[in-house]
Parts: sequence; structure tokens; C-alpha cells
Amino acid sequence: VMQRFLLGTNWKMHKNFSEALDYTAKLRILAEAYPEYQYFIIPPALYLQELGKRMAGSLVLLGAQNMHWLDEGDFTGELSPAWIADCGAQIAELGHSERRQFYNENDYDLNRKVHAALHYGMRPLLCVGESAQEKMYGITEEALRRQLKIGLFGVVPKDASRVWIAYEPVWAIGASGVPADPAYVEQVHAVLHDCLVELFGERGRGIPVLYGGSVNQENCVALAERKGVDGLFIGRAAWDMEKFKTISEQLHAYFNTGKLGYG
Ligand code: 13P
Repeated sequence: VMQRFLLGTNWKMHKNFSEALDYTAKLRILAEAYPEYQYFIIPPALYLQELGKRMAGSLVLLGAQNMHWLDEGDFTGELSPAWIADCGAQIAELGHSERRQFYNENDYDLNRKVHAALHYGMRPLLCVGESAQEKMYGITEEALRRQLKIGLFGVVPKDASRVWIAYEPVWAIGASGVPADPAYVEQVHAVLHDCLVELFGERGRGIPVLYGGSVNQENCVALAERKGVDGLFIGRAAWDMEKFKTISEQLHAYFNTGKLGYG
């Protein structure tokens, strides 16, 4: 079955509550105009409950930016996966490079979080990506395979169908990021898809790999048209609804020429 192309945004630590409400109301309408995409948003966790209510029945999926792996415990400041799921999150974004870099998240703990997300019926959106240093040393493939193999350790093929992967090269993310060359992205996505098949057999083929890192109105089509790119995961360029709309239009023009999704 052909799956819808995935188009999502991670808000990081941006937007106040009224901006969040305004944005999601507009996105709800945008999603109805473009049913060929599966839109999703990853807002701040504090807003999940309200946005979960408002977005119920919409075509837009909702996710959390992070969570703990345990149901409960003495972990001041942490968020239980049970709460996240209860608020209406269908996706748990795990291991974003900013969390790995600034909050010391490691592949072993991320593996626990992947299992927790699956346990609570959410889709783990596991983010992987090589650093500039790893790229320089020529160990991109090793770094990514390691992140996938530890992060997804013990996931049974039956559950693998709920996993999403985001390839986000660390050097390409954020205002100081350098946009990745689409040909390079295609090569890396092939490595990731191969590794997923190695882990899960045929089921691994159905796992979407999204690209993220400095995606914008100018480069979105060049990235989306590459083989193995099953979606785009966008930061800055999607926080402004007008820009996200433009990206949706650009892709629409391209998708009408043949490619409609993945799988
Ligand atoms: P930018 O699109 O702002 O580079 O951020 C990408 C990202 O981190 C998505 O998770």
C-alpha cells in the first residue's frame, strides 16, 4: 500500500500558547487542502493536552519532543510516556540531535524510550544523524548504523511498522546548519533503509525515513524527489504558516508529476 508522504515540524522551544492555537487552527485547514500528505506537529509538551483536544478528528498527527521511558518514579522534571499518550500524542520524537548534544541522550536510553513509546501505542520517531566530525572521519555509515541498531534493539518486526526514522545530519540543523546535498541525502537514506531491512526483514522496508535539516521552500522538492526520502521533518521553515503552505504547494506541484508517497 502506498503511504502518504510525511510532512512534519518540530517546534523545539518556540511559540507561545496563543501562537500555538493560531498555528494549529490554520494547519488543520491546510491539511484538508492537501490530503496527500500526512502532516504532523511536535509542539511543546505543555500544550499537548489542549492541542490534543483541538486536533482530535483532524488529519494532523501530534507528537511530543521527548519523554522518560518509565511510567512513573522519582524523576523531578521528567514527563511520563503515560501522560504524553494520555494527552493525545500519537508520536514520540526521540533522540533529536539537540537532545543528544545538550542533554546527553544516548542510544541505550533512547532504546528504552522507543520501547515505551510502542508500549503506549505511539509511533517512535527516532532521530539519527552523524556529526560534522563523524562525517569528516568518513564514519557516517558506522555512526548511523550504530544509532539504529542500538536505538531499535529488541523491537519485534510486528511493532516495526509503527516506527518512523528521521535522518537529521547534525551539521545541517538549525540557523548555523549547512544544507545537505540531495545526492548525499539519497545515499544516506539507502544506507538507513538497508539497515532497517537487515533488522526487520520485509517489514523494515515499510519504515519511512524522513529527512530533516535546513529544509526550506527552495530545497524541499530537490530533497523530496530523492529515492528513499519518505517525508520531510522541518524546523524553522515550517514555524511560519505561510512558509509551510508554500512548501506544501511546491511539493504538490511535484507530486502531481508521479511520486505520491512511499512504501
Ligand atoms: P531546521 O529545519 O530549523 O534546520 O531544524 C530541523 C530539525 O531539527 C527538525 O527536527
